[in-house]
Amino acid sequence: MSIYDVIPVTAEDHRRRARRRLPRFLFDYIEGGANDELTLAANSRDFQQLQFRQRVMRDVSTVDTACELLGFQSSAPMVIAPVGMTGMYARRGEVQAARAAKAAGLPFTLSTMSICPLEEVQAATQTPFWFQLYMIRDREFVQRLLQRAKAAGCTTLVFTVDLPLPGMRLRDFRNGMLGGGLPGKLSQLAQLVSSPLWALDVGIKGKPHNFGNLKEKIADPDDLDLYKAFIDSQFDPSCTWDDIRWLRDQWQGKLLVKGVQEVDDARAAVDAGADAVLVSNHGARQLDSVASSISKLPAVVAAVGSEVEVYVDGGVRSGLDVVKARCLGATGVFLGRAWVYALASRGQQGVEQLLGLFQKEIATAMALMGVNQLDDLNPELLETAISR
Ligand code: FNR
Repeated sequence: MSIYDVIPVTAEDHRRRARRRLPRFLFDYIEGGANDELTLAANSRDFQQLQFRQRVMRDVSTVDTACELLGFQSSAPMVIAPVGMTGMYARRGEVQAARAAKAAGLPFTLSTMSICPLEEVQAATQTPFWFQLYMIRDREFVQRLLQRAKAAGCTTLVFTVDLPLPGMRLRDFRNGMLGGGLPGKLSQLAQLVSSPLWALDVGIKGKPHNFGNLKEKIADPDDLDLYKAFIDSQFDPSCTWDDIRWLRDQWQGKLLVKGVQEVDDARAAVDAGADAVLVSNHGARQLDSVASSISKLPAVVAAVGSEVEVYVDGGVRSGLDVVKARCLGATGVFLGRAWVYALASRGQQGVEQLLGLFQKEIATAMALMGVNQLDDLNPELLETAISR
């Protein structure tokens, strides 16, 4: 980097850099949403439409962004959201991101679909982290995974409920990732992309992976279609709230249910034993044409916020968005694409820098709104009320 280069600073800066660095199908996989991407646009737009009330001449000499998130002493109300296959966007990507989260003092969530296994993240960070679970058909496999998560020191289980099957992300068809447009062999694909780094990490070469040893389960683990079909076939579409009660019995730590949008579903999650709910439409990657998650947050907070912690994600691209979510009653936000762009752009260093920027943005916004404590953020500090 020379002094004439622009240093990526914001999530958008990292997004542009990631687009230059990654092969098209991988960048699209991160950025894309389901179908016409109407919800993807709504997730960001509804944050942008919220406006702050500026307040002046108050003593803001003790601004503090620290808070407790399900028992985790966090430096700010932000959690690193689970994102699958992160090891494809940067070498040992989950470890790099988990190290960045540790440096920033924020909880890191490892996806079921991670390239780096639980044990590797634990060994690299020596810090408690959160584990995200998809319900897999084989319940004994789920039990083993939970045991591994416990042994790795995971304190919170993030159980994702909005993926009975993968959504219709049409970019994956257009760019050939699905439907046979790319070479059928993962190894051939690796030779075609500009950077081979991601391919080294895919886990097809006998490397450990949360999904077990794929070689044993797939006739030809190098075959892209077989690999994808195997993964898709593992999700259990018959899962109901009863399974969460089963899960509650298996898991003694904190349980956060990720992916509710409607009040009734949030209530059902709480009744099934959840310690927290995450208002989320999976970053607009599942059902398109649903409302933005930030617009759904106030009703869920009103319904269950006095009993459990309520989180939100989808479209958070700055510290200001985090403050807006706190004003509307969220305990904290999950960051998705923002950190993944930073990882693909500049690895651990990029994620650390971006998280630091968000923290500064939160503290600065609080001071300029006349607020020292996160608990003093409230809906009255927002100018534009969105439908509740
Ligand atoms: C995700 N998300 C996700 N969620 C989950 O529970 N398990 C997973 O493995 C993944 N994988 C995944 C991959 C990619 C590429 C993306 C972009 C997202 C959803 C994620 O946790 C979060 O809900 C959204 O990303 C939040 O929206 P934003 O911040 O990306 O707009």
